[in-house]
Amino acid sequence: MKVRKGIFPVAGLGTRFLPATKAQPKVMLPLVDKPIIHYVVEEAVQSGIEDIIFITGRGQVAIENYFDLSFELEEFLRTKNKRGELAELNGISNLINPCYVRQKQAKGLGHAILVARHLVENEPFTVFLGDDVIDSEVPCMRQMLEVFERYHCSVVALQRVAKNQTSSYGIVQPRQIDERVFQVLDMVEKPSPDEAPSDLAIIGRYILTPEIFRELDETTPGKGGEIQLTDAIRRLLRRQAVYGFIFEGTRHDTGDKLGFLKATVEYALRREEIGKEFREYLRSLQLRDQ
Ligand code: G1P
Repeated sequence: MKVRKGIFPVAGLGTRFLPATKAQPKVMLPLVDKPIIHYVVEEAVQSGIEDIIFITGRGQVAIENYFDLSFELEEFLRTKNKRGELAELNGISNLINPCYVRQKQAKGLGHAILVARHLVENEPFTVFLGDDVIDSEVPCMRQMLEVFERYHCSVVALQRVAKNQTSSYGIVQPRQIDERVFQVLDMVEKPSPDEAPSDLAIIGRYILTPEIFRELDETTPGKGGEIQLTDAIRRLLRRQAVYGFIFEGTRHDTGDKLGFLKATVEYALRREEIGKEFREYLRSLQLRDQ
């Protein structure tokens, strides 16, 4: 069955980025000149996922406005004959077929997915976490869909992490199938390094079979008092196989200040209009510090 839908849980309060996130959603912070969420949506579109379901919270209309037409702005650009900017804005509002569901209470990632149940029903679907921006030749979700097409099971994105970082991720107990593919035998949400079953961490991309909704419905609050997606997938493992896939590409954790800055620098260096000058500026800083 073709996977068409993508759930984007973006209702988080962005507490790691206060005060910048006091009055705007975290995923609207820009990497150079595009909001973080734009990069993640582009990955979805390039992977063939165009029906996007945003799970939003209070005060997140900026996301809706961003993917909508902006009549006044477009009219202004038209009268000023700014064709390039106009085409870019049109491109954004034509990018996806979005739909917005409010998560009325912040009860965790698992709960956020569950509020989209009525829009997904009986199809396999994808999940994109907005903090994880993945830079790769073949879009990460496209790579994962190939694994899904081969095994017809849920697939989670994996990356190796340092032992002292396991408490920031869901960690899997793997059985290797292929160079990059693992059968997941078990998983734990944010274990301490001693309890971690491996160094393979779940990154914010998932393909899930619809049976996950029943499991989410029965999942009780776990780590941090929240309904954890990891716990629901763990329950799903009792009925269905789940695979893990180490994707090819670089993942930027833009939910973290240092990760956000690194991503900003990398994307800026690649920009034609500013890259060269920015590189020279960074070099000059390095020389000054020596
Ligand atoms: C969530 C998941 C975790 C996963 C991580 C990936 O945690 O609960 O299992 O490893 O995303 O980014 P969060 O970072 O939202 O706390």
